[in-house]
Amino acid sequence: MIEGPHRVDRLWPDPTLEIALDDAMAAFQPPAAPDGRPAVAINMVTSIDGRAQLEGTAEGLGSRADRRLMRLYRAAFDAVGSGAGTLRASGIWLRVGDDLATRRTARGVSPNPVGVLIAGAQPVATDARWFGGDERRILVVGARNPMTDVPTGTELLRSPDELPDPRWVLECLSERGIGSLLLEGGPHLNASFLAADLIDEVYWTIGAHLLGTDALQMIAPIEGGSPFDGEPRRGHLVSVLRHEDELFLRYRFGVAG
Ligand SMILES: NC(=O)c1ccc[n+]([C@@H]2O[C@H](COP(=O)([O-])OP(=O)(O)OC[C@H]3O[C@@H](n4cnc5c(N)ncnc54)[C@H](OP(=O)(O)O)[C@@H]3O)[C@@H](O)[C@H]2O)c1
Repeated sequence: MIEGPHRVDRLWPDPTLEIALDDAMAAFQPPAAPDGRPAVAINMVTSIDGRAQLEGTAEGLGSRADRRLMRLYRAAFDAVGSGAGTLRASGIWLRVGDDLATRRTARGVSPNPVGVLIAGAQPVATDARWFGGDERRILVVGARNPMTDVPTGTELLRSPDELPDPRWVLECLSERGIGSLLLEGGPHLNASFLAADLIDEVYWTIGAHLLGTDALQMIAPIEGGSPFDGEPRRGHLVSVLRHEDELFLRYRFGVAG
């Protein structure tokens, strides 16, 4: 089913009022893969006071238009990744929907991006919905994770470290022909990619709420402190869309333009 049409105002670049979200995103391309590794973008929704959880999940932080935007981003990437904490908290459903699957097929790629789930030491429930689709799936686990059997259609990758090192994960994905990874959280997995300075773009939806809670933020604090040695990584604002009281921001890091 095609959702919408959700209307947005494009505030930057080329300000235009009242356009369809799908049209505003029509020319979207993931960042180019840098240094021979897959490009990495993070997509998250938060409240105005920066919280990425509402009563334990992301549910209710973003609008239906934000959910459509999430699928539009997914449809443009080779793979979509999440941390095991997110699956345990709320389940994960990485599919793009029939209309976008058809568009992907017309581009000569699989109907849905490859699903990548990253766990550390703890098992994940293999009856979770994530394991049920027919798209290709890769489950990455830490060295001590007890899981050995995974459902048919899922490739199990065991990292040499207790928590999979993001660079190692990207090498494995690159070897499997994946050139772009959309990370959909959660905040601890995001933090591991930030700690390794592997975030090329951030797609940030600001939902119009104040929560006043101590819930997790978009990126959890990095153990050991900032990787940037007193020089914060500066972002370039690529685009801003507005839907009602919500903002959809796109930032690029590390690459000029
Ligand atoms: N607002 C949003 O857009 C959004 C998006 C996604 C999730 N969320 C919310 O965020 C919460 C879940 O986030 P979370 O931070 O608790 O979990 P998470 O980041 O999804 O997953 C953390 C888990 O990933 C595994 N992991 C594998 N490699 C890792 C590494 N290098 N560094 C850190 N962890 C690694 C560990 O699993 P083991 O436990 O097996 O060691 C760790 O416990 C949920 O409430 C979810 O609804 C919000």
